[in-house]
Amino acid sequence: MSHPMLDIAVDLAHRAGALLRAGRERDLSVQSKDHHDVVTEIDLASERLIVDGLRRSFPDHAVIGEEGGLQTAAARYTWLVDPLDGTLNYLHGIPFYAVSIGLLEDSLPLLGAVYDPLRDELFTAVAGAGAYLNGRRLRVSTIADLRRTMLTTGFPYDRFVNADNNLREFAALLLQVQDIRRPGSAALDLCNVAAGRSEGHWELGLKPWDVAAAGLIVREAGGLVTDYHGAAWQPLATNRLIAANPLIHPQLLAALTAVRSTVSH
Ligand code: IPD
Ligand code: CA
Ligand code: CA
Repeated sequence: MSHPMLDIAVDLAHRAGALLRAGRERDLSVQSKDHHDVVTEIDLASERLIVDGLRRSFPDHAVIGEEGGLQTAAARYTWLVDPLDGTLNYLHGIPFYAVSIGLLEDSLPLLGAVYDPLRDELFTAVAGAGAYLNGRRLRVSTIADLRRTMLTTGFPYDRFVNADNNLREFAALLLQVQDIRRPGSAALDLCNVAAGRSEGHWELGLKPWDVAAAGLIVREAGGLVTDYHGAAWQPLATNRLIAANPLIHPQLLAALTAVRSTVSH
């Protein structure tokens, strides 16, 4: 699927991905006390590359980068950029991280690109035109029985001070499904749902740039993406997300509702 704005996002995601790959190689040779600085530097360099590119191509669009690269006044088109999703994986040398670039039109997802530079996997979607992995059409899995599902999830950064930290949900679901992973990149976790590699992902405490692109990719692969009440995902408003194949989504929603109803958050 080609789209002029997607082509520019893809080019920037590829270039930022190459920068992350190269930065990681350099990073491996430095002392651990420097790791965080190096990562921070790479985060910022990746964001600068993407934000500058978007500004050059689309001077009248709003661009929101996770690292605060640029925040502009509201516009019809808004780009949401996570220059490195999976920072802690990157820091530890765990090969699972990505660049995520999503575009909203009037607050609704229009297109997105998520690039995994280590596997050279490019996930893309344009609203109404399907989701693709390196040009191959994606479909969510058809597993219908919750007990046969592989799920993924994540835990919020404020889990130490906020009791609504997903531990109860994780414990309850672990006994109802085949297995659960916590891979560490929400964008790639969602893309794996889109690719049918896992059946669903749930997480609270997400930010718009984590999922702006990947939420659309799941949807365009035939998945359902909602909040914890089953209401349609809104990229700027939903920070609790359930994304799953449509057969599993109601079961996952019910299981999460059941465990969350036993405690008031
Ligand atoms: C994080 C990752 C992680 C998710 C967190 C995100 P970052 O993004 O996506 O998997 O659990 O909620 O904040 O900080 O690595 O860009
Ligand atoms: Ca992120
Ligand atoms: Ca990030």
